[in-house]
Amino acid sequence: MIERIKELTKEVESFSPKESSEIEAFRIQYLGRKGFIQELFKEFKLLNPELKSSVGKPLNELKQLITNKIEYFQHHLKESRSDDKYNDMDLSLEGPSIKPGSRHPVSIVKNQIVDIFSRIGFTQSTGPEIVDDWHNFTALNFPLDHPAKDMQDTFFIQRNPDFVLRTHTSSIQVQEMQRHKPPIRTISLGRVYRNETISYKSHVQFHQIEGLYIEKNVSFADLKQLLYYFVQQFFGEHFDVRFRPSYFPFTEPSAEMDIRPKNGDKRWMEILGCGMVDPNVLKNCGIDHEMYTGYAFGMGIERMAMLKYDIQDIRILYENDIRFLEQFISER
Ligand code: DAH
Repeated sequence: MIERIKELTKEVESFSPKESSEIEAFRIQYLGRKGFIQELFKEFKLLNPELKSSVGKPLNELKQLITNKIEYFQHHLKESRSDDKYNDMDLSLEGPSIKPGSRHPVSIVKNQIVDIFSRIGFTQSTGPEIVDDWHNFTALNFPLDHPAKDMQDTFFIQRNPDFVLRTHTSSIQVQEMQRHKPPIRTISLGRVYRNETISYKSHVQFHQIEGLYIEKNVSFADLKQLLYYFVQQFFGEHFDVRFRPSYFPFTEPSAEMDIRPKNGDKRWMEILGCGMVDPNVLKNCGIDHEMYTGYAFGMGIERMAMLKYDIQDIRILYENDIRFLEQFISER
């Protein structure tokens, strides 16, 4: 019997299962009701007392060894199973890509323009989008009931036609001149509205930036110098600039500014309107027009974005098509 125990001990020691089903089979074979251990105990009972004392210990040790083996492998196989799970993973693979958002091109261009003028001392100002006729037109020297009002197809507020959706950010000029004493150096920005047919080049709603500088002895030469600086900063060195005489009720003289690339396309592109603030406007806004002069200019932000990024249709700026917007991820 001692021989049998030794033999089984060897077998148990070399047991090394690969799957948990093998452990279970092993348990039944050795510890089951008809297993080896039960059989050995049955035999053990029949032994005479002398033999019992020499066989008891190795038999109990064998049983303990089997129990330990089973426990060990039950635990260990589980662990190595979960190790396998990690081994199957390729940790060097790229994760799912998360695309960063981007700023809207109108915001990008707005920020760039604000930056350029902030660097040379212009403050920022904003105003309400619904304004009275006086702020949008009258103070700006539009004659009462003058067809010039039609020039900027106006949305009137139905319940009170004395109020309009501002047609230009020039209405903020008026507010700024009323609020502050010269020197005034500010850019005003915001959304403006016009009752126009929507097409590739015009929309009922867009954004403008307006500049205003009021101080003693401001001249048209100062205005030109400022706008040269602006074009150079915004578009780069490679553009020619020209001023064309024009008309706005609120400036005298008035001009429009065009640019074109030094090499390449020979067509001039209009980018903004400007001029010396009409003394009537200064008067309307409570500024001494004998003492002060000033210049003003205004431009459409969408138009600047279209020129800068070669966008052919203004409507794409409002469609929020991801394929379009994604192209601006690298921009500020
Ligand atoms: N308000 C004009 C427009 O909406 C743009 C403009 C032209 C603004 C000349 C100015 C200016 O301040 O001096 O078309």
